[in-house]
Amino acid sequence: MSATFRTAVVRVPGGPDSIEIIDVPVREPGPGQIRVDIAGAAVNPVDLGVAAGFFHRMGLINQPEHTGMGWDFAGVVSAAGPGVDLPVGSRVAGLVGGFDRDFGTYAEQLIVPVRDAALVPDGLDLGEAATVPLNGLTAAQIVDLLGDGAGRKLLVTGAAGAVGGHILSLAQERGWQVTGLARAQDEAFVRGLGAGFTTEAAPGWDAVADTATLQEEGLALVRDGGVFVGVRPNADPAAERGITVRAVEVQADGARLARLLDATASGRLPARVHAFLPLDQVAVAHRAVAKGGVRGRYVLQP
Ligand SMILES: NC(=O)c1ccc[n+]([C@@H]2O[C@H](COP(=O)([O-])OP(=O)(O)OC[C@H]3O[C@@H](n4cnc5c(N)ncnc54)[C@H](OP(=O)(O)O)[C@@H]3O)[C@@H](O)[C@H]2O)c1
Repeated sequence: MSATFRTAVVRVPGGPDSIEIIDVPVREPGPGQIRVDIAGAAVNPVDLGVAAGFFHRMGLINQPEHTGMGWDFAGVVSAAGPGVDLPVGSRVAGLVGGFDRDFGTYAEQLIVPVRDAALVPDGLDLGEAATVPLNGLTAAQIVDLLGDGAGRKLLVTGAAGAVGGHILSLAQERGWQVTGLARAQDEAFVRGLGAGFTTEAAPGWDAVADTATLQEEGLALVRDGGVFVGVRPNADPAAERGITVRAVEVQADGARLARLLDATASGRLPARVHAFLPLDQVAVAHRAVAKGGVRGRYVLQP
């Protein structure tokens, strides 16, 4: 009998209880690929949209059998394909990008291109590392879209969230004068990252990074001729008043992720785990995230 592993999928999307954990045959990595024994996979807002069928309805998912759940992971390399110069036993983290795939990171193991993974530095726990790839890369790619700040004023909406929290730090490194819009109870977190804090912003910002998906309301906060960067590539608010409107679409990038993991290990970027849960309790985690107010990630452990 061939070996199998457990992986979480959705066949017919219908919310948290439609996520199934199935057994599938173990595969060997091909050229340029690694197989990773997963130690932790973060539960991100996008996963709730996949389980609910939001992205199926948008036409972004067309899997005939099932859709793999989970975008980011940390774990240990258990096999390396031809051309891979990474020893078995290496601690790595990475991102599985794109909606339309049959396997995801909520699983005991996963095969990924080695270029999409990065070494986790000694001293950074794999559970914490699992919270970095999707959120860190999205934040870094939002800051790329914003460019250098040169002292200009940036408002980050959803600043206490996983993506927003990373932007607070990364945008200051690029010369932005950063203020975070968040709930009143998030003030210490936002200020602790060196940013200004507000619960209600007046218009006039040079740029807005809109991770709270305020959309038109967020655009209205940008000054004439400023920059708006959103997180919904298929639902940008319409440009107005000479504002440049852009949206991030996160891409896997192992080299960039390595730098983000180093920054997390050294404490320059926040790593926030709300709780660890066994993979079997994926629906519990999804229901909790759906309620809102969770700070830090649920991390599923197979
Ligand atoms: N396009 C891409 O490539 C991409 C990649 C990654 C993420 N995303 C999207 O980016 C968004 C943010 O992701 P995330 O992981 O950072 O989510 P998150 O951790 O849930 O953070 C969102 C934050 O926004 C806060 N918030 C919402 N409405 C607010 C308001 N009116 N005022 C102040 N704060 C408000 C939330 O607070 P409460 O919890 O209290 O409501 C939460 O702290 C999600 O929509 C996600 O799907 C897009």
